Amino acid sequence: MSDQNLVELQGIHKAFGDNVVLAGVDLSVARGEVIVIAGPSGSGKSTMLRCVNGLETPDRGEITFDGRPVKPGKGLSALRAEIGFVFQQFHLFPHMSVLDNIVLAPTKVKGVARDAARTRGQELLERVGIAEKAHQFPAELSGGQQQRVAIARALAMDPKLMLFDEPTSALDPEMIREVLDVMRDLAREGMTMLVVTHEMGFAREVCDRLVFIDGGLIVEEGPPAEFFANAQSERAREFVDKIIHH
Ligand SMILES: Nc1ncnc2c1ncn2[C@@H]1O[C@H](COP(=O)(O)OP(=O)(O)O)[C@@H](O)[C@H]1O
Ligand SMILES: [Mg+2]
Repeated sequence: MSDQNLVELQGIHKAFGDNVVLAGVDLSVARGEVIVIAGPSGSGKSTMLRCVNGLETPDRGEITFDGRPVKPGKGLSALRAEIGFVFQQFHLFPHMSVLDNIVLAPTKVKGVARDAARTRGQELLERVGIAEKAHQFPAELSGGQQQRVAIARALAMDPKLMLFDEPTSALDPEMIREVLDVMRDLAREGMTMLVVTHEMGFAREVCDRLVFIDGGLIVEEGPPAEFFANAQSERAREFVDKIIHH
């Protein structure tokens, strides 16, 4: 069981009307692996992440998570509870305190006792560096702090996999670092992560493998250093050039 890949995507196709977004994606994600997914806007990165936790259903192909098929029906919500998802917009509940945001899913979905969930929530806030914000409301926090709450909230479910979809794209530059630092610590602690990001410094420093997607296909994948120094395809080289000379 434990030597099996945590996630497998096989021949994933997804179209919205005439718009073919994923045109046959294959990807295996080992336990503990950190993968950065890069590619131009509209290349299907978000759609791919959304397929992994069943928010979108592929037209063709198969996805397994921890040995179980990701598909609509019985079992999907249990499976989704094991996958944390952090979005560009933080999606915190504005009328709830920071700590209540974190406690909600463990108590409602997993039946964790409220006291235990609050203790754990407070620990997680400490881990993401904002223990003192527990009783404030999201609107009282900076964007970087709100995103760290969103990460703590996802971790409160003890996920086996964390998905990040451009987690720093909505942040002011001075707040990007504090969020990337939390993600880097998480990676070092062994979390399996799929990260869509344009932060190529993070990719270079943290990820095991960089996957470059364009036109709905994985055009290139490999160690990040290799990708930056020696991209094989024209499209990947253009992408690297744009980012480096940005
Ligand atoms: N729910 C949807 N309905 C219709 N079109 C969609 C939907 N989601 C994404 N798309 C389209 O799919 C394409 C890829 O989108 P997306 O996966 O968000 O790309 P990326 O995250 O790489 O920018 C885009 O053309 C987008 O407009
Ligand atoms: Mg996207």
